[in-house]
Amino acid sequence: MNSYKNIIILTGAGISAESGLATFRASNGLWNNHKVEDVATIEAFERNPDYVHDFYNELKLELIKAQPNPAHLAITKLQQNYPAKISVITQNVDTLHEKAGNQNIYHIHGQINQSVCLNCGHILETFGDVDTQTQCHNCHVTGMMKPNIVFFGENLLCMDTVEQLLSSCDLFLSVGTSGVVFPAASFVQIAKYNGAKTFEFNLEPTSNNFYFDKHIMGPAGTTLPAFIEELLKSS
Ligand code: OAD
Repeated sequence: MNSYKNIIILTGAGISAESGLATFRASNGLWNNHKVEDVATIEAFERNPDYVHDFYNELKLELIKAQPNPAHLAITKLQQNYPAKISVITQNVDTLHEKAGNQNIYHIHGQINQSVCLNCGHILETFGDVDTQTQCHNCHVTGMMKPNIVFFGENLLCMDTVEQLLSSCDLFLSVGTSGVVFPAASFVQIAKYNGAKTFEFNLEPTSNNFYFDKHIMGPAGTTLPAFIEELLKSS
């Protein structure tokens, strides 16, 4: 293997599967048996904020219990031992990368333990319940907190940084994502055009097949640590 200077690890729901969390498309487009249009659109939130808050408060309870698996932990090992800038761009709203000790994490779809005040933009960090009675700690307005989850139709988070990282990336690893939700699905193409080596870790080939130099099939909790061991040996 080469020596790399700017590594991106893009992760999706598949990296958390071995931590016991369901992936999206495995459950027929339903999020824990809820319809996407009822819990993940800004219209749904405007229509029925209590319902949407209840959904994410419940999801928090599930995600707070989950523990990182060997794939998350291998990323920490890589970051601690490989002499490169290593960034984790995740579509996951769980905090398993943080729990595993990963650094340089960009949650482009938001994160479950945050709410954003629609009045002033303040971010409230909590695993506790947030609802229409919650007061913003900054502007003190009540009832304007929204889960800091990127709903369909909203802009992704951290994209300025992500674009910069993609432009200088020389190794791009995609782990456990189906590659059907844009713009994340286009990151591999951008990285490849910029000269990066591209590897996909998944149970099966995805629709982004074409842009990967190599597909490593199997559960990420096994394949990613093995790949990272090889990378560390070669450094
Ligand atoms: P998906 O549910 O679409 O895809 C999960 C991928 O992980 C699939 O390709 C599986 O084959 C793969 N997979 C499952 N278990 C695996 C394992 N143990 N090891 C390796 N791969 C495994 O999830 P995402 O691609 O993350 O958006 O979905 C992208 C976005 O769609 C989500 O972030 C969410 C959803 O709408 C928002 O929340 C805005």
